Amino acid sequence: MAVTKSTWEPDSWRGFAAGQQPEWPDAAAVADVRARLREVPVLVFAGEARDLTAQLAEVAEGRAFLLQAGDCVESFRETSSVAIREKLRVLLQMAAVLTFGSQVPVVKVGRIAGQFAKPRSSATEIVDGVELASFRGHTVHSDEPTAEARVPDPERMLQGYYQAAATLNLLRAFTKGGFADLTRVHTWNQEFVASSPQGQRYEALANEIGRALRFMEAIGIELARERSLHEVNVWTSHEGLLLDYEEPLCRQDSLTGDWYACSAHMLWIGERTRELTGAHVEFFAGVHNPIGVKLGPDATVDEVIGLCERLNPQRAPGRLTLVTRLGAGRVRDLLPRLLVGVRDAGHPVAWICDPMHANTFVSASGRKTRRFDDVMAELEGFFAAHREVGTWPGGVHIEFTGENVTECLGGSEAVLEDQLDHRYETLCDPRLNARQALDLAFRVAELMRG
Ligand code: PEP
Ligand code: CO
Repeated sequence: MAVTKSTWEPDSWRGFAAGQQPEWPDAAAVADVRARLREVPVLVFAGEARDLTAQLAEVAEGRAFLLQAGDCVESFRETSSVAIREKLRVLLQMAAVLTFGSQVPVVKVGRIAGQFAKPRSSATEIVDGVELASFRGHTVHSDEPTAEARVPDPERMLQGYYQAAATLNLLRAFTKGGFADLTRVHTWNQEFVASSPQGQRYEALANEIGRALRFMEAIGIELARERSLHEVNVWTSHEGLLLDYEEPLCRQDSLTGDWYACSAHMLWIGERTRELTGAHVEFFAGVHNPIGVKLGPDATVDEVIGLCERLNPQRAPGRLTLVTRLGAGRVRDLLPRLLVGVRDAGHPVAWICDPMHANTFVSASGRKTRRFDDVMAELEGFFAAHREVGTWPGGVHIEFTGENVTECLGGSEAVLEDQLDHRYETLCDPRLNARQALDLAFRVAELMRG
C-alpha cells in the first residue's frame, strides 16, 4: 500500500523492496553512518531546489532547454580543482552554443557533486579473468579488482558527502566568482579543443557574442550591472540510488514544512529502480526536489502515467523530468506513443533525451563504448518524434568529461576502435570527450533550429 503524504517519512521506503542496494556486511556500522549524516550541514537548500523547479517548469512549458551532463560516475581519486574546472568549462561552452543557437534559456545541471553510486545489470563482473562483485561506485566500495576491495563499507558514504561538499564549494566559487562570466566566453575553449573544427566554430561564436556585448555597451547598457552576464547557476544532480545515503540527508524545510533531499538540487530515479511499487519511487514521492526518471525501451505508457501520478499528483510543471533512453534504432518507434500518452493524460513534464545509455556496446577489444553517430541518431529521432507529436524536445542528458579521453568512437575528429586503449579512464560508462561534447552541442543547436 502506498504511504500517503501525511504519513511519509524519509525512512518510509524501508517498507518497500529496494533494488540495487549494497549488501552492507555490518548493519550497526550503517546505522552509525546514517546517524552522522543526519547531523551534517546540508549541501543544497530547499529554496535552491524550488528555484530549479521553477526553471524546469519553463522547460516543461516549452520556453527553455535543459542541459544535464557530467560523469557517468565520479571518482574518489579525482579530487583536483583542475578536473572540476575542465568539466565546468565544457558545460559552459555547450550551454553557450545551445543558447546562441536556439535563442532560449538553457538550464545547466551537472551530473556532479554526488554522482557516486551505480546500478548494475549484473551482480558480478569478470576483471582479468576473475569474477568479482560488480563495481557499484566509490560510496559503496573501492574499484580495485580484489574480493576484499569490493566489500561494501558504509564509511565511504561519509567520504562521498565530504567530496560532494568540496566539489560543490568549488562549483559555487567558479560560477559566481568570475570564471563563468560571459565576457570570458573565449577562455572556455581548451587548447586541444581550439585546434579542432568545432573548436574553431566555437571561437567564431565567441567572437559574435563578444560583438553583441560591445554593441549593447555602445548603446548605453551598463553591462557591469547585469548580473546574468557575470554569474550563472550550475545546479547539481545525481541518481538517487543509495537510499542509506539519501534518507539521512533529507531535511524538513523550515519555511514550508516540506521534506527535501539535500544531497543535490535534482535527483533522478534510474531505469533499473523505477518500478511503481518499489522503494525508490516511494522515497522520491515524498521529497519536494525536482525529480527525473529514466525510461528505457520497455517502459509502457501505463507505467509512465503511473509514475507521473505517483511522483507529481499535483501536476506541478518542473517537478518531473522524464529522461528517455530508448536507443538509436528504436526511438522513432517507441517515443511518440509515450509523448502522446502523457500529454493526453494531462501531465506536465519536461522531456529530455539521454542518447547514451541505450547505445552502449562492447568493442572487439572488450571495451564498453558508444558510437558518436548512434548518440546523434537517437537525438535526431528524439527531435523528430517531438516534432511529429507537437511536444517540446526539452533537453539532453549526456555523459562527458573535460579531458581528451578515448572512450566513445567517432566524432568529427574520429576516435577509432584501435585507439580506445589510448586514454580509456572511466570507472563505468564511456564518456564523450570535450571535443565530442562540443560537437554534439553544435549539432543539437541545429536540431533545435531545424
Ligand atoms: C546512468 O545514468 O549512469 C545510468 C545508469 O542510466 P540508466 O538508469 O538510464 O541505465
Ligand atoms: Co552511465
